[in-house]
Amino acid sequence: MRVAIIGAGQMGEALRRVAEGVGHQVTAIVGRPLEEAFWDRLSAEVVIDFSHASQVRFVVERCLSRGIPLVTGTTGWTAEEEELRRWAKAVPGARWIWGGNFSRGVALLKLILQKVHDLWPLFSDWEGVLVETHHSRKKDAPSGTAIELQRFFPALKAIYSLRVGQIVGEHALLLSGMGEEVEILHRAHDRKVFADGALWAAHWLLQQNAYVGRFEEVFLAHSQG
Ligand SMILES: NC(=O)c1ccc[n+]([C@@H]2O[C@H](COP(=O)([O-])OP(=O)(O)OC[C@H]3O[C@@H](n4cnc5c(N)ncnc54)[C@H](OP(=O)(O)O)[C@@H]3O)[C@@H](O)[C@H]2O)c1
Repeated sequence: MRVAIIGAGQMGEALRRVAEGVGHQVTAIVGRPLEEAFWDRLSAEVVIDFSHASQVRFVVERCLSRGIPLVTGTTGWTAEEEELRRWAKAVPGARWIWGGNFSRGVALLKLILQKVHDLWPLFSDWEGVLVETHHSRKKDAPSGTAIELQRFFPALKAIYSLRVGQIVGEHALLLSGMGEEVEILHRAHDRKVFADGALWAAHWLLQQNAYVGRFEEVFLAHSQG
C-alpha cells in the first residue's frame, strides 16, 4: 500500500517503521498537515492519522471529500464522534474507520465482554472487575481502553488501575463466583501492535466499497454474521 501518515510523534514513527518493514511505501509523514498544498500534492492509497484530536475533523474532511480512505487512530475527540459519523455517512462511497485502540486482541476482548454481558443475568451472584496495568509514566487512569471495555460490560463492579515500571498495557477481566473464578487477560507487549492493527484496518478498508464506522464494529458485524 502507498500510505500517508498524519502524526510524526511516537505512534507515527512506530507506524512508519512497521509499514516500511512489511513492504508498504510511506509517501508522507507529517505532524500538522494544515496547508492545502499538502493535500493537493498528496499521493496515497490510504491515510492513517495518529496525531492530535484538534485536527481530526480537518483530516476527515480533507480525506473524505477527496475520496481518500482514512484510518483514524487519534484519540480524544469523542464529543465530535457522532456528528462526524453522520457527516461522513452522507459522503457517497466514503471509507473511514476509527478506533481508540487498534489492537485486534482488544477488539476480541470487547466481543468476549459483550457475550459475558448477555449471559450475566445467569450470574447474578457473581462479581466482575477490570484491572488495568500500565507503565508509571501514564498519567490518565483509568485507561481510555478500560473505559471503552466497560461500555461492553456495564455491570463491572469496579476498574482498578495500577501504574508500575515499563508495562506497555494489560487489561484483565476477573469474574468471581462462589468457589470459582474466570480470568481473561489481554497483554500488549509493544506499541507496534497498534501500528500493525492500523495497517490491518487500512488493508481491510481498501477492500470495501464504502464503510464508515469504528474498528470494533467490523468485528461485531462479523460475529453477528
Ligand atoms: N488507536 C490506537 O490504537 C492508539 C494507540 C496509541 C496512541 N494513540 C493515539 O495516537 C495519537 C498520537 O499519539 P503519540 O503517542 O504518537 O503522540 P505524540 O508523540 O505526542 O505525537 C503527536 C503528533 O501529533 C501532532 N500534532 C498536531 N497537532 C497537535 C497539537 N495541537 N498538539 C500536539 N500534537 C499535535 C504532533 O505534531 P508535531 O510533530 O508538529 O509536534 C505530533 O506529530 C494520540 O491521540 C494517542 O492517544 C492511539
